[in-house]
Amino acid sequence: MPAPLRVAVLVSGRGSNLQALIAAQRSGALPIDIVVVASNKPAAEGLRHAQDAGIATVALDATGRRDRAAYDAELFAHIAAFTPDLIVLAGFMRVLDAAVLAPWTGRIINIHPSLLPKYPGLHTHQRALDAGDALHGASVHFVTAELDGGPVLACSEITVETGDDADALAARLLPREHALLCRCVQWIAEGRVAWQDDRLQFDGAPLTDVLRV
Ligand code: GRF
Repeated sequence: MPAPLRVAVLVSGRGSNLQALIAAQRSGALPIDIVVVASNKPAAEGLRHAQDAGIATVALDATGRRDRAAYDAELFAHIAAFTPDLIVLAGFMRVLDAAVLAPWTGRIINIHPSLLPKYPGLHTHQRALDAGDALHGASVHFVTAELDGGPVLACSEITVETGDDADALAARLLPREHALLCRCVQWIAEGRVAWQDDRLQFDGAPLTDVLRV
Protein backbone atom coordinates (compact mmCIF):
# COMPACT_ATOMS: atom_id res chain seq x y z
CA MET A 1 0.00 0.00 0.00
CA PRO A 2 1.35 3.48 -0.86
CA ALA A 3 2.06 5.83 2.05
CA PRO A 4 -0.94 7.96 3.01
CA LEU A 5 -1.08 11.40 1.41
CA ARG A 6 0.33 14.02 3.77
CA VAL A 7 -2.28 16.78 4.01
CA ALA A 8 -2.11 20.26 5.55
CA VAL A 9 -5.45 21.98 6.18
CA LEU A 10 -5.88 25.74 6.52
CA VAL A 11 -8.91 27.09 8.34
CA SER A 12 -10.14 30.46 9.54
CA GLY A 13 -13.25 29.51 11.46
CA ARG A 14 -15.67 26.75 12.33
CA GLY A 15 -13.77 23.93 10.67
CA SER A 16 -16.66 21.63 9.77
CA ASN A 17 -14.96 20.66 6.50
CA LEU A 18 -11.85 19.82 8.49
CA GLN A 19 -13.97 17.68 10.81
CA ALA A 20 -15.38 15.85 7.79
CA LEU A 21 -11.85 15.08 6.61
CA ILE A 22 -10.82 13.89 10.07
CA ALA A 23 -13.91 11.66 10.34
CA ALA A 24 -13.39 10.20 6.86
CA GLN A 25 -9.73 9.52 7.59
CA ARG A 26 -10.62 7.81 10.86
CA SER A 27 -13.28 5.68 9.25
CA GLY A 28 -10.67 4.32 6.86
CA ALA A 29 -12.30 5.93 3.82
CA LEU A 30 -9.48 8.39 3.19
CA PRO A 31 -5.87 7.28 2.81
CA ILE A 32 -4.45 10.52 4.23
CA ASP A 33 -2.47 11.74 7.17
CA ILE A 34 -3.45 15.24 8.29
CA VAL A 35 -0.01 16.47 9.33
CA VAL A 36 -0.91 20.01 10.38
CA VAL A 37 -3.85 22.38 10.68
CA ALA A 38 -2.95 26.05 10.38
CA SER A 39 -4.95 29.22 10.86
CA ASN A 40 -4.65 32.97 10.57
CA LYS A 41 -7.10 33.20 13.50
CA PRO A 42 -5.80 31.88 16.81
CA ALA A 43 -9.39 31.56 18.11
CA ALA A 44 -10.59 29.50 15.13
CA GLU A 45 -12.80 26.64 16.24
CA GLY A 46 -11.10 24.49 13.60
CA LEU A 47 -7.84 24.64 15.55
CA ARG A 48 -9.61 23.16 18.55
CA HIS A 49 -11.00 20.31 16.46
CA ALA A 50 -7.46 19.59 15.28
CA GLN A 51 -6.05 19.64 18.79
CA ASP A 52 -8.85 17.35 19.99
CA ALA A 53 -7.85 14.95 17.22
CA GLY A 54 -4.19 15.09 18.22
CA ILE A 55 -3.14 16.94 15.05
CA ALA A 56 -0.33 19.51 15.13
CA THR A 57 -1.52 23.10 14.81
CA VAL A 58 -0.02 26.40 13.73
CA ALA A 59 -1.77 29.62 14.72
CA LEU A 60 -0.26 32.70 13.14
CA ASP A 61 -2.32 35.77 13.87
CA ALA A 62 -2.67 37.97 10.80
CA THR A 63 -4.15 40.87 12.76
CA GLY A 64 -2.10 44.00 12.32
CA ARG A 65 0.22 42.38 9.77
CA ARG A 66 0.40 44.98 7.01
CA ASP A 67 2.89 43.17 4.80
CA ARG A 68 0.66 40.48 3.33
CA ALA A 69 3.39 38.82 1.31
CA ALA A 70 5.67 38.55 4.34
CA TYR A 71 2.85 37.11 6.45
CA ASP A 72 1.96 34.55 3.78
CA ALA A 73 5.61 33.55 3.39
CA GLU A 74 5.91 33.02 7.15
CA LEU A 75 2.70 30.98 7.31
CA PHE A 76 3.74 28.81 4.39
CA ALA A 77 7.20 28.26 5.83
CA HIS A 78 5.52 26.81 8.92
CA ILE A 79 3.32 24.60 6.75
CA ALA A 80 6.19 23.48 4.50
CA ALA A 81 8.08 22.28 7.58
CA PHE A 82 5.46 19.50 7.84
CA THR A 83 6.25 18.42 4.24
CA PRO A 84 2.65 18.05 3.06
CA ASP A 85 1.86 16.55 -0.34
CA LEU A 86 -1.36 18.56 -0.51
CA ILE A 87 -2.64 21.77 1.08
CA VAL A 88 -6.40 22.05 1.55
CA LEU A 89 -7.98 25.47 2.09
CA ALA A 90 -11.14 24.64 4.04
CA GLY A 91 -12.80 27.90 4.99
CA PHE A 92 -9.51 29.79 4.89
CA MET A 93 -10.60 33.38 4.42
CA ARG A 94 -7.53 35.02 2.97
CA VAL A 95 -6.37 35.72 -0.55
CA LEU A 96 -2.88 34.27 -0.83
CA ASP A 97 0.14 35.94 -2.35
CA ALA A 98 1.10 34.66 -5.81
CA ALA A 99 4.73 34.12 -4.82
CA VAL A 100 3.79 31.88 -1.92
CA LEU A 101 1.44 29.84 -4.10
CA ALA A 102 3.88 29.28 -6.95
CA PRO A 103 5.79 26.32 -5.45
CA TRP A 104 2.48 24.65 -4.56
CA THR A 105 0.89 24.84 -8.00
CA GLY A 106 -1.12 21.68 -8.54
CA ARG A 107 -0.82 20.73 -4.87
CA ILE A 108 -3.25 23.18 -3.24
CA ILE A 109 -7.04 23.06 -3.40
CA ASN A 110 -9.89 25.16 -2.04
CA ILE A 111 -13.55 24.50 -1.37
CA HIS A 112 -15.81 27.35 -2.40
CA PRO A 113 -19.57 27.60 -1.78
CA SER A 114 -20.74 28.33 -5.32
CA LEU A 115 -20.87 26.67 -8.70
CA LEU A 116 -17.69 28.24 -10.03
CA PRO A 117 -17.06 30.21 -12.18
CA LYS A 118 -20.17 31.81 -10.72
CA TYR A 119 -19.71 33.97 -7.65
CA PRO A 120 -16.07 33.99 -6.67
CA GLY A 121 -15.55 35.84 -3.39
CA LEU A 122 -18.03 36.36 -0.58
CA HIS A 123 -21.83 36.17 -0.02
CA THR A 124 -22.26 33.43 -2.58
CA HIS A 125 -25.60 32.14 -1.27
CA GLN A 126 -27.23 35.57 -1.37
CA ARG A 127 -25.79 36.24 -4.81
CA ALA A 128 -27.28 33.00 -6.13
CA LEU A 129 -30.67 33.97 -4.66
CA ASP A 130 -30.48 37.52 -6.02
CA ALA A 131 -29.73 36.14 -9.49
CA GLY A 132 -32.77 33.85 -9.30
CA ASP A 133 -30.65 30.75 -9.85
CA ALA A 134 -32.47 27.42 -9.82
CA LEU A 135 -29.25 25.59 -8.97
CA HIS A 136 -26.61 26.39 -6.39
CA GLY A 137 -23.71 24.39 -5.05
CA ALA A 138 -20.09 24.13 -4.05
CA SER A 139 -16.89 23.60 -6.00
CA VAL A 140 -13.43 22.25 -5.27
CA HIS A 141 -10.77 23.89 -7.38
CA PHE A 142 -7.03 24.08 -7.59
CA VAL A 143 -5.72 27.35 -6.23
CA THR A 144 -4.01 29.94 -8.41
CA ALA A 145 -3.30 33.59 -7.73
CA GLU A 146 -6.72 34.49 -9.14
CA LEU A 147 -9.39 34.58 -6.41
CA ASP A 148 -11.44 31.35 -6.61
CA GLY A 149 -10.23 31.18 -10.20
CA GLY A 150 -8.11 28.03 -10.61
CA PRO A 151 -9.25 24.91 -12.50
CA VAL A 152 -12.33 23.28 -10.98
CA LEU A 153 -12.02 19.58 -10.21
CA ALA A 154 -15.56 18.83 -9.03
CA CYS A 155 -18.79 20.37 -7.84
CA SER A 156 -21.89 19.37 -5.94
CA GLU A 157 -25.25 20.87 -6.84
CA ILE A 158 -28.40 21.57 -4.86
CA THR A 159 -31.68 23.02 -6.06
CA VAL A 160 -32.85 26.37 -4.78
CA GLU A 161 -36.29 25.97 -3.19
CA THR A 162 -39.04 28.55 -2.86
CA GLY A 163 -38.62 30.38 0.42
CA ASP A 164 -34.90 29.69 0.71
CA ASP A 165 -32.84 32.41 2.26
CA ALA A 166 -29.06 32.54 2.39
CA ASP A 167 -28.92 30.71 5.73
CA ALA A 168 -31.19 27.92 4.53
CA LEU A 169 -29.12 27.46 1.38
CA ALA A 170 -25.86 27.44 3.34
CA ALA A 171 -27.22 24.87 5.78
CA ARG A 172 -28.47 22.58 3.02
CA LEU A 173 -25.22 22.90 1.10
CA LEU A 174 -22.86 22.22 3.99
CA PRO A 175 -23.17 18.41 4.16
CA ARG A 176 -22.75 18.33 0.38
CA GLU A 177 -19.56 20.37 0.77
CA HIS A 178 -18.23 17.84 3.25
CA ALA A 179 -18.88 14.93 0.92
CA LEU A 180 -17.45 16.85 -2.05
CA LEU A 181 -14.23 17.79 -0.28
CA CYS A 182 -13.69 14.28 1.07
CA ARG A 183 -14.26 12.77 -2.36
CA CYS A 184 -11.84 15.17 -4.06
CA VAL A 185 -9.14 14.55 -1.46
CA GLN A 186 -9.72 10.82 -1.88
CA TRP A 187 -9.23 11.05 -5.67
CA ILE A 188 -6.01 12.99 -5.16
CA ALA A 189 -4.79 10.55 -2.49
CA GLU A 190 -5.49 7.66 -4.87
CA GLY A 191 -3.36 9.35 -7.52
CA ARG A 192 -6.26 9.80 -9.92
CA VAL A 193 -5.81 13.55 -10.35
CA ALA A 194 -2.80 15.14 -12.03
CA TRP A 195 -1.92 18.71 -12.85
CA GLN A 196 -0.14 19.04 -16.17
CA ASP A 197 0.61 22.23 -18.13
CA ASP A 198 -1.94 24.21 -16.11
CA ARG A 199 -4.65 21.65 -16.86
CA LEU A 200 -6.22 18.89 -14.84
CA GLN A 201 -6.10 15.24 -15.75
CA PHE A 202 -8.33 12.59 -14.24
CA ASP A 203 -7.56 8.90 -14.62
CA GLY A 204 -4.89 9.76 -17.17
CA ALA A 205 -7.11 11.83 -19.50
CA PRO A 206 -7.64 15.59 -19.69
CA LEU A 207 -10.57 16.63 -17.52
CA THR A 208 -13.02 18.09 -20.04
CA ASP A 209 -15.97 18.55 -17.70
CA VAL A 210 -16.17 19.29 -14.00
CA LEU A 211 -16.78 16.09 -12.02
CA ARG A 212 -20.05 15.86 -10.07
CA VAL A 213 -20.39 14.54 -6.55
C1 GRF B 1 -17.56 26.67 3.75
O1 GRF B 1 -18.80 27.07 3.29
C2 GRF B 1 -16.54 26.75 2.65
O2 GRF B 1 -17.07 26.41 1.39
C3 GRF B 1 -16.19 28.21 2.66
O3 GRF B 1 -16.17 28.55 4.02
C4 GRF B 1 -17.02 27.68 4.75
C5 GRF B 1 -16.18 27.04 5.79
O4 GRF B 1 -16.92 26.23 6.68
N1 GRF B 1 -14.97 28.45 1.96
P1 GRF B 1 -16.17 25.36 7.77
O5 GRF B 1 -15.18 26.29 8.49
O6 GRF B 1 -15.45 24.25 7.06
O7 GRF B 1 -17.24 24.87 8.68
